[in-house]
Amino acid sequence: MALRGTLIWLCSLAVLSSIAASDETLHQNCSSQAQLLERLSADLQVVIECGGIPLSEWSAQQTAALLVSMRNLTDTLHKHQLKECQGAEPQKCPGAEVPENGGLACVTVANKRYCKPLCNHGYDFGFLRRSRLYDECSKQTGYKWNTQYVGGNKLAVCNEASIQVSGAKTAYFPKDQDCLTTKKSSHLQDSIMGDLTTELNSQGIQGELQFACLVCG
Ligand SMILES: *[C@@H]1O[C@H](CO)[C@@H](O)[C@H](O)[C@H]1NC(C)=O
Ligand SMILES: *[C@@H]1O[C@H](CO)[C@@H](O)[C@H](O)[C@H]1NC(C)=O
Repeated sequence: MALRGTLIWLCSLAVLSSIAASDETLHQNCSSQAQLLERLSADLQVVIECGGIPLSEWSAQQTAALLVSMRNLTDTLHKHQLKECQGAEPQKCPGAEVPENGGLACVTVANKRYCKPLCNHGYDFGFLRRSRLYDECSKQTGYKWNTQYVGGNKLAVCNEASIQVSGAKTAYFPKDQDCLTTKKSSHLQDSIMGDLTTELNSQGIQGELQFACLVCG
């Protein structure tokens, strides 16, 4: 009951503040983008939790305009997010492709780059890779990825599947999660990176972990 009350209160507040904000927006400029994004993210969270209450008063055109803006922002954020693994050592290694419907966890140890493809829940690998936990790019591999897909930077493909059998247990994001929802939680992301560290250690690869990252396709 208390939660519901709070939500309704938050929702009314969001509607009121958005009316006030529309005037303010005109005076805003692009130099305060970080603040804008922060507020937008918080506002979106409220709108989602309001369950479409304000949306029912929206015209078809307003809805289409919002969809277009969200599509643009989604594409822009996604492209930005994909770059988070760039610039890692060894620099001679090309960036590994991030699988759609999955993600890529990467780390550099002793100047060797290791990337581990993971599939979202509900997806499975195109090739059997149960004993292949990660792929490597280093001087020893000629600064190429030792991938199952010949001559490229593609490490894995994630196909829709009702059961997940082609990869190791740790090569899938947790049940009911995907790469982004995992990444959103520092606890879940730490657990994915922890698995990769354990797997590297168990194969005798130890040392300082550098350029650790998780990117979502
Ligand atoms: C943009 O905003 C900044 C800080 O709020 C301000 O200093 C700057 O003059 C503004 N620029 C324009 C073109 O309005
Ligand atoms: C988003 O919109 C801006 C401004 O109209 C445009 O320059 C940019 O290319 C668009 N980005 C995407 C990913 O659609």
